[in-house]
Amino acid sequence: MARASSALGTIRELSGLEQQLHRDHLVRLDPDGRRDRFNGIADDTFIARYSARCFAGVTRVFALIDQDGHVRGTAELHPPQGDEPADIAFSVEPQLRRQGIASRLFEAVISAARREGFTRLRITSSSDNQAMRALARKFGASFAFSHGEAIGTLLVEARSSPPLAVEKSQDQAFPRARMPAFAGC
Ligand SMILES: CC(C)(COP(=O)(O)OP(=O)(O)OC[C@H]1O[C@@H](n2cnc3c(N)ncnc32)[C@H](O)[C@@H]1OP(=O)(O)O)[C@@H](O)C(=O)NCCC(=O)NCCS
Repeated sequence: MARASSALGTIRELSGLEQQLHRDHLVRLDPDGRRDRFNGIADDTFIARYSARCFAGVTRVFALIDQDGHVRGTAELHPPQGDEPADIAFSVEPQLRRQGIASRLFEAVISAARREGFTRLRITSSSDNQAMRALARKFGASFAFSHGEAIGTLLVEARSSPPLAVEKSQDQAFPRARMPAFAGC
């Protein structure tokens, strides 16, 4: 499996057998991080159900995995519904923020979206989430604001060589049902 490694860990797609790593990462988010990620209150039970849905459907989850095998940051790619853009969502554990992890995950998601043929991506959070806006703007997102939400949209350019090679998950033997997960962050 192709991986992108650095001192902070390795970025790769999670397989269907690694759902608990995703759940445990989301549970470790600080209260503000949970609120920003899910745009509201998210208790452990909600997070466990949310994570399970991500791995039961068509969502693809990319992760930074540290030397101890813990997932410390994730990016989700939720395929588009009808004419809607594909939804994306990010989370990085507080102690590792502002070191470029979400930016690396963003590159992985854009590469995957390009290979899937998705042309528009959407990221949503509360309008006061400056970190999310800074991250998405770095990749060319433009924002609309409505009812306390900031909705960022970016176009995926067709390109022959993706910026970062991250392979699809190895669990092709475990196909995911077509059940979208709630990306609401
Ligand atoms: C948003 C989040 C994923 C960013 O993760 P990160 O790994 O710290 O991001 P990066 O280090 O790649 O930074 C990306 C850019 O955003 C900027 N940025 C990051 N945090 C910022 C902050 N709090 N305020 C202003 N700018 C910020 C960085 O400076 C960087 O820009 P640069 O490359 O020009 O320096 C992280 O803060 C997080 O998990 N927040 C909680 C969950 C959330 O809000 N998710 C987004 C909604 S789905």
